[in-house]
Amino acid sequence: MNNSNLDRDKVVPILLSEQEIKAASEECMTPLYLYNLNKIEHQYAKLRNYLPPNFKILYTLKANSNLTICEKLAQLGCGADISSIGELKAALKTGFSAPQIVFTGPGKTNLELATAIETGISIIVVESVNEARRLNNLAEKYGKKQDVLIRINPLYRTNQSCEIREQAGSCGSNDTNGGETGLKIQTIASRASKFGLDEEKAIEEIIAIESLDNLNLKGIHIFTESNVLDYKQLLASWENTISIANRINDQGHHISLLDFGGGVGIPYNSIDSEFDIESFGKELQRIFENNPYTYHCIVEIGRYMVGEAGCYMTEVVDIKESLGEKFIILDGGVHQLLRLSMKPASKYIEVLGKNGNYTQKVTLGGKLPTPLDIMVEDVMVPENIEIGDRLVIYNCGAYGFNHSLTNFALHNYPAEVAYSDGKMQLIRETGKIEDFFLNQKLPFAKNLEKELLTSI
Ligand SMILES: Cc1ncc(COP(=O)(O)O)c(C=O)c1O
Repeated sequence: MNNSNLDRDKVVPILLSEQEIKAASEECMTPLYLYNLNKIEHQYAKLRNYLPPNFKILYTLKANSNLTICEKLAQLGCGADISSIGELKAALKTGFSAPQIVFTGPGKTNLELATAIETGISIIVVESVNEARRLNNLAEKYGKKQDVLIRINPLYRTNQSCEIREQAGSCGSNDTNGGETGLKIQTIASRASKFGLDEEKAIEEIIAIESLDNLNLKGIHIFTESNVLDYKQLLASWENTISIANRINDQGHHISLLDFGGGVGIPYNSIDSEFDIESFGKELQRIFENNPYTYHCIVEIGRYMVGEAGCYMTEVVDIKESLGEKFIILDGGVHQLLRLSMKPASKYIEVLGKNGNYTQKVTLGGKLPTPLDIMVEDVMVPENIEIGDRLVIYNCGAYGFNHSLTNFALHNYPAEVAYSDGKMQLIRETGKIEDFFLNQKLPFAKNLEKELLTSI
């Protein structure tokens, strides 16, 4: 295919054929998410093959909590990283067992903590000493001793995360020699954060947490980077986590478990390179071999596991020009695929059935009545694109469906379809308008007919 946005061979080693994608889009109405479960297997196998054997791989449900996808990852042998009771239920429903589940994230309520303790999940990551105290009181009530990690906001982070790429340089940067790997990696001072405890105060707070009788402090959790494509950057960040853990052990606080969070990136356009997981794994192994302490490790992977396995399909409903710029208006929008979650925006798109050169620069706009609903700016499409064409946006399996403004303007939720071993199956029906009225009441309604009131 002659397509300047897409190099199928280079960037997506296992991708459905255009015919398969077309068939799915013809079977279901657009907008639509389509997932390739075989691609998820492939990603998991890479992680399992290349990460050192002391790593337990968790799937981060917030990336995509569709039950079919969760079930696939449970079957493959992943544990689960959850951040709510909803995700806990989704994990248990799809075959993850309680001892494989880790609870992360800020703002855990007493109800959430109590449910997690009662369920017997393996680890809760505490974000503050106050949270640890609340958890301790609840664990005491249940007569349990809960294993915990503390989340740390490190003094420095590397600066290649796509989240902060645009601001790098304005944050006051330092060069470090990257510790034992000798990598020259630029780091920036971390900002004040709602996540975790500041590194400078970690020891003081560890002492406070160690004094709590119903908690068992196993180790630390640090996650600062997102969508990192240069493996050396992520390695430097993880090496920093190991150094922090070593210093905690040097001071006599025995910790044996490290949780590195996620951060392994995926390409979102043809100039992005693939994350070199093989070199990453090898260098990580070398670091552990030379480290004075032995650790069990956890990774919580979302984007790398499912991002490339999903695409979003939408139809062109209008084509227009404004002040010399061309707009393609789609039947989808940011209520179903919030492009910000994939910064820098993916230009990784294809117009089905159009084999011409991608030489026309356009902006893709969604159907929402807000200027926020611009899906991709300055993207190339074929000259002969027309109303009714189906457009595919690739690499949206992570933070797509789950990360969007789903309630804006009350458009139906998109359907979801999965492909596995030659078969395509509907895994979520298109939402119904009634879904938006679920659990709502109209106690102040004055002039509505009785039947209308009872119908919601
Ligand atoms: C605590 C935590 N762990 C893991 C992840 C997953 O990160 P990624 O999608 O980069 O693998 C996230 C994502 O936000 C997270 O908040």
